[in-house]
Amino acid sequence: MSKYKTHEYDVLIIGSGGAGLRAAIAAKEKGAKTAIVCKCLLGKAHTVMAEGGIAAAMGSLDPDNWQTHFQNTMFGGKYVNDWRMTEIHSKESPDRVRELEQWGAVFDRTKDGKMLQRSFGGHTYRRLVHVGDRTGHEMIRALQDKVVSMGIDIYMEFMISHLLLDDGRIAGAFGFFKDTGKFVVFNSKSVILATGGMGKIWRITTNSWDNTADGISLAYFAGAELKDMEFVQFHPTGMVWPLGVKGLLVTEAVRGDGGLLTNNKGERFMEKYDPKLMELSTRDLVARAINQEVREGRGTEHGGVYLNISHKPSAYVKKKLPSMYDQFLEFADLDITKQPMEVGPTCHYMMGGVSVDPQTQMSTTDGLFAIGEIAAGLHGANRLGGNSLSDLIVFGRRAGSAAADYAKGMKSLPIIDQKEIDEHKDWLFSFFETKSDCPPSLVHTKLQDIMERDVGLIRDDEGLKKVLSDLDSLSQQYKNTYLEGNLQYNFGWHIAISLKFMLITAKIVSRASLERKESRGALYRKDFPKAEEEWGGKSVVIKNKDGNMSVSTVPIQPMPSNLEDYIKKEKEEWLNKQK
Ligand code: FUM
Repeated sequence: MSKYKTHEYDVLIIGSGGAGLRAAIAAKEKGAKTAIVCKCLLGKAHTVMAEGGIAAAMGSLDPDNWQTHFQNTMFGGKYVNDWRMTEIHSKESPDRVRELEQWGAVFDRTKDGKMLQRSFGGHTYRRLVHVGDRTGHEMIRALQDKVVSMGIDIYMEFMISHLLLDDGRIAGAFGFFKDTGKFVVFNSKSVILATGGMGKIWRITTNSWDNTADGISLAYFAGAELKDMEFVQFHPTGMVWPLGVKGLLVTEAVRGDGGLLTNNKGERFMEKYDPKLMELSTRDLVARAINQEVREGRGTEHGGVYLNISHKPSAYVKKKLPSMYDQFLEFADLDITKQPMEVGPTCHYMMGGVSVDPQTQMSTTDGLFAIGEIAAGLHGANRLGGNSLSDLIVFGRRAGSAAADYAKGMKSLPIIDQKEIDEHKDWLFSFFETKSDCPPSLVHTKLQDIMERDVGLIRDDEGLKKVLSDLDSLSQQYKNTYLEGNLQYNFGWHIAISLKFMLITAKIVSRASLERKESRGALYRKDFPKAEEEWGGKSVVIKNKDGNMSVSTVPIQPMPSNLEDYIKKEKEEWLNKQK
């Protein structure tokens, strides 16, 4: 008999964003006893913040096809994508979007009733299916209605702090309700991590409070391999002013719908960096271009550049970009139909994550699956805008279905080790026992300072080594971090626990960045400013081996010639430019 309230499931999904919800639907459809556990209230997951659209080769307006989507995604990812995932994603996205529509999502339409699609950086064709600039919200609404109508169990405002193992394979998860502090054990045949990103490791970020790298750390401590963690995307356009909202996303749809970037001299500076694609170049390039303009003294008063859409009719802007209009009016007292916005790079997305099987999304830990932002592979070294929302529904469905099959193949529930839970619980209580003058919020601030300083858009050997040493010192301080209060709605306690996730993930990102001695996609090393051919064929893999962080490289599987044909010419041209 367990000391703790215990729930038993075939499939336990951690996270209620687009990926988690879609996985739950697929698992339940296969007859699996399924539950979702989420840190937030249902409907508040970070997916609701997704603005510009879902990338899928529907071909509503242009002669689009999966091959071009595949080619664009590989080019965007600078050819270190797991091409097997990229192929699946390009082929399956349109069906997943149509399915969303059948479940009630109401997308914007063309006059003749087709799904309207908009331009986005790096996509050859108008490809993003959208609802103004509130696409993620509509996606979550439709998926959530479906999940609720299917009677799937949901545990809200519940924080998972530890994954449980039975002889190396997944056995479930342990955590507590944030309001009462009551502990619960989930004994499950399979677990799907759908916990989203890690943006809160940085100060300037588009990410919400919940994006504290939980899934990466949980997977790491459960023995799963992590891949490509050096590739962190800085979205080119976040708000830079006022300070209280610095980093908040300014959707790429502004540029997709005709917005222009200029510096303080009024120059459309993208001409220098990418004369062909201009404002709709890939995010890595636009973000670095803005950074360079600002560093060289051509920035705005608040340290950004201008993004202007006021040359378009006011009604058009309000219809296409209602959230942007409200956001700037509300926070910056600025009317974007009349004045330019000030924008600059902001930490947005991690391309790396848990290394997964491309078909099923199972990690290298038996029974543990990972989907959405915490799964590595699809996006390579840099993600194209809009590809994340289609990623969620394509691989969410696959993982839900595979996890249900996996559970079916198990005769009984895995065994829970009570001692493992007791030890973990002692750690959870330890924050209230230590005496120091260092609250968790201070550790968090210091962590963000370190990461902003040396693990941003531009990195090098010296800075990264300094980060690793600073993180070691900070981890020592963290051990003595001190809390007051009790277990009920104690935000400080939640940060203290999240800091374990963030500190280890910050180290993983820094270690991986140090390992890759080249610049590729979102990783720019000023000591190795070009992409190197030998690095194009491998991934950096990080794993917890008996408490030590092991770092290695693994070769990327060669691509079959039929796929190679789609990307060959563009890849050669890009490689030649690196010489
Ligand atoms: O700019 C945006 O609307 C963000 C989209 C994305 O990251 O896919």
